[in-house]
Amino acid sequence: MHLPVMAAEAIELLAVRPDGIYLDATAGLGGHTSLIAQRLATGMVIANDRDQQSLALARENTYPYADRIRFHYGTFGELEEALAEAGVSRVNGLLADLGVSRRQLTDPERGFSFSADGPLDMRMDQTTGMTAADLVNHTAEHALADLIFQLGEERRARKVARAIVRARPIRSTLHLADVVERAVPRTGPLHPATRTFQAIRMAVNDEPGELDRLLKIAPQLLAEGGRMVTISFMSLDDRKVKTRFRELGRMGRARVLTKHPLLPGEEEVARNAASRSAKLRAMEIVAAGESAG
Ligand SMILES: C[S@@+](CC[C@H](N)C(=O)[O-])C[C@H]1O[C@@H](n2cnc3c(N)ncnc32)[C@H](O)[C@@H]1O
Repeated sequence: MHLPVMAAEAIELLAVRPDGIYLDATAGLGGHTSLIAQRLATGMVIANDRDQQSLALARENTYPYADRIRFHYGTFGELEEALAEAGVSRVNGLLADLGVSRRQLTDPERGFSFSADGPLDMRMDQTTGMTAADLVNHTAEHALADLIFQLGEERRARKVARAIVRARPIRSTLHLADVVERAVPRTGPLHPATRTFQAIRMAVNDEPGELDRLLKIAPQLLAEGGRMVTISFMSLDDRKVKTRFRELGRMGRARVLTKHPLLPGEEEVARNAASRSAKLRAMEIVAAGESAG
């Protein structure tokens, strides 16, 4: 059973109205999409994802509400097109549950994880772009070190990059994990390859660029009084969301609804360990003439 993260909090902050139009920018397996759709009467939810496999599963998992859902295959940079295709210009709520889904992460064939061997792919959209293998086997050592340092917040990035370059060609997820582990032995509870895998995944999918695009266009996608809810699992993402929401607040365009990020409750973390690093933030677009307060 798929458990959408911080579902109650996300739904409450989206303030779903039965006649509203919603955009789930990260449909994944359709968990949050279903919860939004359940609350609709005449409204609609646009369920977007850049992963066609996920969209197919989301479609199956949300079947009882099919009449209220429009699916869209695309990146954050293509969300305006998603709205246009659904025949709407603005939405009343936008949800972004960032990162990869449990399913993407745990399917060895997708190459995101080192818990089982698989091809070094890591693309959320497997139809396009460079794979993790392309990246680790063809990036210059200093550039590789920079990206592992910046995106993985890995202090030992230079050592890791040197070991990767020496071990090329890297052929699989376990091969990469082994090379990293030999270069930087374990010092704490985290597997030594965790940060490197995170950095490579973020680079392969241009996650920082995608989040920037989402945060930039969000105010244009939302109607007055419309709300945006984000769930981040990485501190880099959460910092970006916090900064952008505050900026929109200062500009008088939005009201920040979460002074501090909401965290999952103990019960949720006990039930679903994957939720433990989640941080939820929300903002509301201010109606023209109203003060952001
Ligand atoms: C954490 S999962 C979402 C899970 C979903 N909320 C649910 O309840 O099933 C994130 C999903 O967002 C998608 N995704 C991440 N970044 C994206 C982007 N830039 N554009 C489109 N989809 C993206 C991933 O493919 C993944 O399916």
